[in-house]
Amino acid sequence: MRILHVASEVAPYSKTGGLADVLGALPKALAALGHDVTVVTPRYRSVDPERFGLARRLRGLAAPLGGDTVAVGVYEGQAASTPKVRVYLVDHKPSFDRDGIYGDANGDYADNARRFALLGSAALALAAEFGAWPDVVHGHDWQAGPAILFARRRWGGLPPPKTVFTIHNLAFQGLFPESVIDPLGLPREYYNPEGYEFYGQASYLKAGLTVADRLTTVSPRYAREIQTPEQGFGMDGVLRARAKVLTGILNGCDYDVWNPERDVQLPATYSAESLAGKRVCKAALQRELNLPVRADVPLCGSISRLTDQKGFDLILGALPTLLERDLQYVILGSGAPELESALSELAARHPRKLSVRIGYDEALAHRIEAGCDLYVMPSRFEPCGLNQMYSLRYGTPPIVRATGGLDDTIVDFDARSRSGTGFKFESYDVPSLTESWRRALVAYGNPDDFSALVKRCMAQDFSWTRSAEAYSRLYSQI
Ligand code: ADP
Ligand code: GLC
Repeated sequence: MRILHVASEVAPYSKTGGLADVLGALPKALAALGHDVTVVTPRYRSVDPERFGLARRLRGLAAPLGGDTVAVGVYEGQAASTPKVRVYLVDHKPSFDRDGIYGDANGDYADNARRFALLGSAALALAAEFGAWPDVVHGHDWQAGPAILFARRRWGGLPPPKTVFTIHNLAFQGLFPESVIDPLGLPREYYNPEGYEFYGQASYLKAGLTVADRLTTVSPRYAREIQTPEQGFGMDGVLRARAKVLTGILNGCDYDVWNPERDVQLPATYSAESLAGKRVCKAALQRELNLPVRADVPLCGSISRLTDQKGFDLILGALPTLLERDLQYVILGSGAPELESALSELAARHPRKLSVRIGYDEALAHRIEAGCDLYVMPSRFEPCGLNQMYSLRYGTPPIVRATGGLDDTIVDFDARSRSGTGFKFESYDVPSLTESWRRALVAYGNPDDFSALVKRCMAQDFSWTRSAEAYSRLYSQI
């Protein structure tokens, strides 16, 4: 089948979180199953055509928007992958040649409704232009809502494609005033409570949720959670009404990129059979972070967007007690200013135990996965979560809250039966996190238990093939 993915982030070109990783990996896995796969995404300022070896394909493609058309350029990505996935990057300087992806220091860009309507329109226009009209348009998150709507429009004599919409995070909804609809040419016939109208506004997320033929989200447990008022972000009713077409398909881990046996970002590589390289990574990481270089101290790590979602209020609550113990902890992240400053202040008071790096650093993220003994991810909610899967492969058992994809991917450690792949807690509170962190430290203190745990973690297989097969079956059904 010919599949057209539309997404606002695609690794390695642009990334703020796991969405990018998924779009860097799932298309390859679908192509390996024999599908013809195209990915369309914006060319942001950070995507330097030379550095990424992009080829200019078109200069003046006419993307319809409202009564008008917008002329966009198209670059083609040369990302190494066999079999080949085509990545087209939509080049429109006024919309995408900016420092941020979604916004800047002043918040979200005021014209995001227009920017992502343009992405959707350009995606279909270029598929038509290149004679690559899709059987299925697969949109990801609210930024692809307009692509799902525009797929319903007449494109010359071309047959309307089927549509799939994947929810990576229900918390972001792309809500805009009704006044955006006509200038952007969004179809009025779907602007109603059964469609993309949401309490008097236009919701790009709800466009995807109500208009697409099939809905998926990124783990089976999250698929159930979002149908409840507690975790539905106001969309639970809509999702219950569409429960028959909603499935949870777990994300995979791209072992081409996240694999300690051949990770070029690491000072030393390693495998489950030969873990000496992991010890080298740990010492190098301690040195890099100005922490005492000690093999015996448990080194914990987190890499994250600093948002309400990721459980940093729990971490801040648990740290004063935990920092009395003999441990080290590194946090790499950026996001909410109040979390950035609270974490940085705590680190300044505990320089030999806590290291906080504010910023976004892909290479350091790999070194943390490899150099740490334990990974900490106590999310309030987590549609899937990728870092816990990376941690498994890097032999860094994760401490997780039993929510969404974290619950679906991690089995709680049990010393007696020598089973489990991490440390899991249910209730979202400081004592529960502290207790599972303490259990992890106890396990770390028992070398036999811990090395067996590390080996179990590294043996887990979350490769993309199984997930790609599930998407493939879904495409076939429609
Ligand atoms: P989410 O998509 O909700 O942020 P995921 O666990 O699915 O969570 O994916 C997060 C991805 O973003 C991972 O690849 C992680 O390594 C990366 N990441 C998050 N914050 C940073 C950061 N500050 N520096 C480098 N990589 C980061
Ligand atoms: C979202 C979710 C995360 C998921 C990622 C990729 O950003 O927060 O849990 O892993 O999308 O699907």
